[in-house]
Formats: sequence, C-alpha cells, structure tokens
Amino acid sequence: MQQFQSSLNVPKTPELLRDFEQFKQLLKRRTGLDLDQYKFEQTYRRIYTMMERGGFRQFTDYFHYLAADETRLRQFIDRLAINVSELFRNPEQFEILRTQVLPELLRRNLALKCWSAGSSYGAEAYSIAILLHELAPHRSHQILGTDIDADVLSRARRGVFAESDMRYVPAEFKSKYFRAITENGRTVYEADAVLRRYLRFEHHNLLSDPYPSGFDLIACRNVVIYFSDEAKDRVFRAFYDALKPGGYLFLGNTERIFNYAQIGFENPSAFFYRKPLQEVQQWRNAS
Ligand SMILES: C[S@@+](CC[C@H](N)C(=O)[O-])C[C@H]1O[C@@H](n2cnc3c(N)ncnc32)[C@H](O)[C@@H]1O
Repeated sequence: MQQFQSSLNVPKTPELLRDFEQFKQLLKRRTGLDLDQYKFEQTYRRIYTMMERGGFRQFTDYFHYLAADETRLRQFIDRLAINVSELFRNPEQFEILRTQVLPELLRRNLALKCWSAGSSYGAEAYSIAILLHELAPHRSHQILGTDIDADVLSRARRGVFAESDMRYVPAEFKSKYFRAITENGRTVYEADAVLRRYLRFEHHNLLSDPYPSGFDLIACRNVVIYFSDEAKDRVFRAFYDALKPGGYLFLGNTERIFNYAQIGFENPSAFFYRKPLQEVQQWRNAS
C-alpha cells in the first residue's frame, strides 16, 4: 500500500521537472518518441516509478543508463507503451460489431478493409478476423494491425495467445479457430491459418506517420487514452480522413469524441462513430 501511494504521489520539485524536460528532449533526439504528445501526469508518474525502481534519482542519469544499451532502451519504450489486450476485449462492444456494424458494412461491400490501430500483439485484429470469417467467409478482407512497439508486432504475426487472452472467446470459436499447444510448459493457443491470411502487421506511429486510407472500419481502442487532448483531436480527424464514406471508427470502453459532430462523424451507438455516407464537407471546408 505504501508503495502504491508513493507511486501515485511522485515528487515534482522544480529541479525534477527541469530534469524531466531534458529527459524528454534527449529521448526524442535519440528515438524520435515525442513524450510531449502524451498526457503529462501519467507519463511523468510512470517514468518516475521506473527510474526509482532502477535506483536513479535523476531523469537524465536514468536516460544515460537506458541509452547505453539499445535493448534496454527498447524495453523501456515497450513498457511505457503498455500493451495490455485480450481477444474480444469488452465483449458487449464486439457484439454490436458482430450484429450491427459489420452486417451494415457488408451490405455495401463484398470485402472489408479494416485497421486495428495500436493493435498491440494482435488480439483485437484476430477478433475482427474471426467475426468477418463468420459473417462473410473466404472473401478478400484485409485487416491491418499497427503499433509502435516492434516486439508486440512480431508476437502478433505469430498469432499465439495465452490462456488469459482467451477468457471472452466463445467456446465455439475457441475450438474452431485455435489449436492448443504447449510452449515452455504452458498451454497457449495458436490461431488458425484461415485467420492469418486476412491479417498484416506493420509498424506505424499514430502521432507522426502518414495515415493509410480507404478503410471501412478502424478500431483504435485503449490507445489514445495516453495522448494529450490536442494529439487526440488530430488523431480523430486523421481517422475521419482515413475512412471511406459510411465507414466506422470503433473506440474503447472509456473513450468518447466529444466534438464528433464538428469533425463530421455521426454517433449511432456508444463507442462507434460513422463517417456519413453522404459526406458533409461544407462545414469543414468553411471552418
Ligand atoms: C493498451 S494497448 C491496446 C491494444 C488493443 N487496441 C486493445 O484495446 O486491446 C495500447 C497499444 O497502443 C500502442 N501505442 C501507444 N502509442 C502509440 C502510437 N503513438 N502509435 C501507435 N501505437 C501506439 C502501444 O504500443 C500498445 O500496444
């Protein structure tokens, strides 16, 4: 409890704050990762805790320790990114996707182009692949999964999931689309090749890379929660542009776009934002 409280109330002296500014600049110069686009409080607290655990009292000393070893630096960034995921995470949202959103999209398109942005190790992308294969099998659906973390992307390409990723996978899908295998003495679940042929995983930074486009569905769940409000707004507008008219943006359980109408979205149900079929551009062009 003591440790929990101390990690919530991390010290913020003017010296530490100056030191942290320098840490951010050094990290940006070395890796390109711009921490100014992430929420300050969370980022500061997380890095302070990591620094303290490593036995350092100054952010810049901690940076030099990290920068001395490429693997260490990569692991730091990976830990900062927080890759928690699971298949069919928030199953009630996937139920809306299965019963309303995907059928609507499939009425207009033979095959769908989807993007799991901030895909982590691929649980969300594989869940979408299962639903598409159930609703419209053997079509040329494309599901792109992207993340800034190279390690999770290689895990995603393997398509092997832990028992803890499987708790929301309906029993019928578990036996149909996964093969239980033993790895390092643990039972893990390997996704069927039928799913893998819809999927592609690539590196992409939502805060600095150009966006691909022409999507029917973009799932970006539990990713922008770490972004500053300005960065979030830029990302939502870029998603709008990346969608086809009638396409959907699918957000996480605690995420909302308050100015969705201003961006041009409709909000037909919680967590789902639709680019109108008849795109109303006048408002945006006028502003
Ligand atoms: C909590 S996971 C979400 C995984 C999945 N979308 C879900 O909801 O289960 C957040 C992911 O966002 C990724 N991420 C963080 N910042 C990012 C950025 N700027 N561009 C792309 N991905 C990012 C992290 O690496 C991490 O894998």
